[in-house]
Amino acid sequence: MKQNEINKWLLEVEHPAKGDKSIVELGMVEKVEIGENSVTVTLAFTKHRDPLAEYLIGSAKAAIIRNAPEGTQVEVKTIIKDEAAPKKKPGLDLGMEELENVKHIIGIASGKGGVGKSTVSVNLAVALARLGYKVGLADADVYGPSVPKMTSTEDQMPDAMQDGDKEVIMPLEKYGVKWMSIGYFAKPEQALIWRGPMACNALKQMILQVRWEELDFLLIDMPPGTGDIHISLVHDIPMEGAVIVSTPQDVALADVEKGVNMFRNESVNKPIFGLVENMAWFTPAEHPDEKYYLFGKDGGLKMAQKYDIPLLGQIPIVQSIREGGDNGEPAALSTRPDGLAFIEIAKKLAETV
Ligand SMILES: Nc1ncnc2c1ncn2[C@@H]1O[C@H](COP(=O)(O)OP(=O)(O)OP(=O)(O)O)[C@@H](O)[C@H]1O
Ligand SMILES: [Mg+2]
Repeated sequence: MKQNEINKWLLEVEHPAKGDKSIVELGMVEKVEIGENSVTVTLAFTKHRDPLAEYLIGSAKAAIIRNAPEGTQVEVKTIIKDEAAPKKKPGLDLGMEELENVKHIIGIASGKGGVGKSTVSVNLAVALARLGYKVGLADADVYGPSVPKMTSTEDQMPDAMQDGDKEVIMPLEKYGVKWMSIGYFAKPEQALIWRGPMACNALKQMILQVRWEELDFLLIDMPPGTGDIHISLVHDIPMEGAVIVSTPQDVALADVEKGVNMFRNESVNKPIFGLVENMAWFTPAEHPDEKYYLFGKDGGLKMAQKYDIPLLGQIPIVQSIREGGDNGEPAALSTRPDGLAFIEIAKKLAETV
């Protein structure tokens, strides 16, 4: 490995808030040290707490890991160049100030992937906004963010704003909801290679350094699974409780059980406000009165009873929900039965909380 080779790799790392210039062009690469089997890069940040610091650190590391020979140890250090600013690692001592005026922080989780967490999160957010609540949604799925596409905001870029010695990110606003997702900054292929801790830090910035202002509800669309990211999220973000999403399938139920236990274990001990049974039955668009129980009947209901969790509602599989997700117009905006189903769930959730 040579210095100029590494610089070339780092050219891939663009600062999304600075016209997509690379960290090399922006003069942020302070030092590159090459060992026999290791690379240490030092990045210089001029601003105290650049809201994208964690994202850039993670991306720089990922760019080197992607290109360097296998087994190379990669470290990315940071320094603050502005002498006036306190000398500390940017981004890591995030406080809770931005969450001060948020009344209820609720995680939307399940143990299993693909059961419709993001669909339920986005529609629940829109439905709560339609009921008159102030709502925000943070997409915590670093590896597969879906909020930008589901709200058709993928071509937008949240603004960063300086407030005293602190920089904050402004959420996007659409359909009466404030949205934040790492998908607005990261290209999918960059996020994929992130290791656990990098992803965790970037994620925390995407929640704690966002100017949410006053909110009744901040929903957090959790990534699938019950791994490190989840544990770190439920510990570091002051979530009040969770909503669990499940399909009626037995396998899904077994995984959902893990999701439930994640919130109920002793060290976390957060209430579960309810369960949403998604894909509860299939209703063809041309026969709105028919119900086909493709994944079994009432699995979610049984699950809710077994764990003593309120069933917030059942959502059928309907084409319009998938289409709404794909074209960025959530079903909850409509007055069709599927839209109203989300409104009913939102009402119940607000009552329960
Ligand atoms: N009730 C429904 N009717 C029709 N399609 C649905 C329904 N719920 C979800 N889908 C579709 O299923 C797919 C997966 O949903 P979604 O992305 O919300 O799941 P997820 O649990 O967030 O997945 P991941 O684990 O990858 O984050 C999407 O294409 C979505 O549009
Ligand atoms: Mg999802």
